[in-house]
Amino acid sequence: MTLSDHGLTGAAKLAGVLGWPVAHSLSPRLHGYWLRHHHVDGAYVPLPVPPERLDQAIRALPVLGFAGANLTIPHKENVLSLLQSVSETARRIGAVNTLIINGQGDIHGHNTDAEGFMASVTDAIGDVAPGRVIILGAGGAARAVAVALLEAGYSTLILCNRTVERSRALADHLRSFGADAQVQPWPPAPEALARADFLINTTSLGMRGQPDLDLDLQSLPDHAIVSDIVYTPLETTLLRHAKMRGLRTVDGLGMLLHQARAGFAAWFGVAPAVTPELRTHMLAAFKEA
Ligand code: ATR
Repeated sequence: MTLSDHGLTGAAKLAGVLGWPVAHSLSPRLHGYWLRHHHVDGAYVPLPVPPERLDQAIRALPVLGFAGANLTIPHKENVLSLLQSVSETARRIGAVNTLIINGQGDIHGHNTDAEGFMASVTDAIGDVAPGRVIILGAGGAARAVAVALLEAGYSTLILCNRTVERSRALADHLRSFGADAQVQPWPPAPEALARADFLINTTSLGMRGQPDLDLDLQSLPDHAIVSDIVYTPLETTLLRHAKMRGLRTVDGLGMLLHQARAGFAAWFGVAPAVTPELRTHMLAAFKEA
């Protein structure tokens, strides 16, 4: 059944986000918006779970009738061994951010960051033919973006990270499933930028409170796309410089919003959309913080 704003029935569907800490999570605000928008008889709640109790908490979810959950720091990598099945994408990324529980109580793990990233690109730019990509960073976010690009048909990935051992390790991992992954020194040289079709920042540089990512983008080709997964602020120095050069850009809010769609659809039975109103609703949370 569906409701307006009047509360829940005893048949309400349940989902939530497991994290430690979890108070900073934007997921309850995001899913809460869609629940209200679609008049769903359901709830999405923060679930503070310390690392040593993750096993217990995961096993409790089907017992409590949860349809599924999201996972955030520090649980995304540690949960894999606790699940009945894990998607190929999540295995490649080495992290799970979405759990889906079936009628038998089996828990399936997936990672929606990859499809979230590609959907944010399509949303901002339209369909893009795969080309040569430079990925800045080599952490968990870089891994998800690299797997997303590979699964979308990009084969040449150039990894550029301050700590070169980390980009080498990521390149080895990506080669193990067919990528032409190359490592370049940090920061990317103008000659490397000149050959790139797509430049993506997955580092924390440019985030509020962090140093800026101040790259000279002059040598990027005119057709290049520049994407930043940082979304506080929404327009980072990198994106501002890219726009000043007349390049097409993709901001980080789209990935955050699009990655949530698959979980919501699986748990609550309605496929939600990323709309300008939703973006405004989420941006208000950054202003309140
Ligand atoms: P996540 O899992 O969110 O990607 P992470 O693993 O902490 O987070 O990765 C953060 C990324 O930002 C790393 O690529 C990091 O580079 P190092 O591997 O050299 O640490 C990058 N990063 C953070 N601060 C940086 C800085 N001041 N200069 C360059 N890169 C930086």
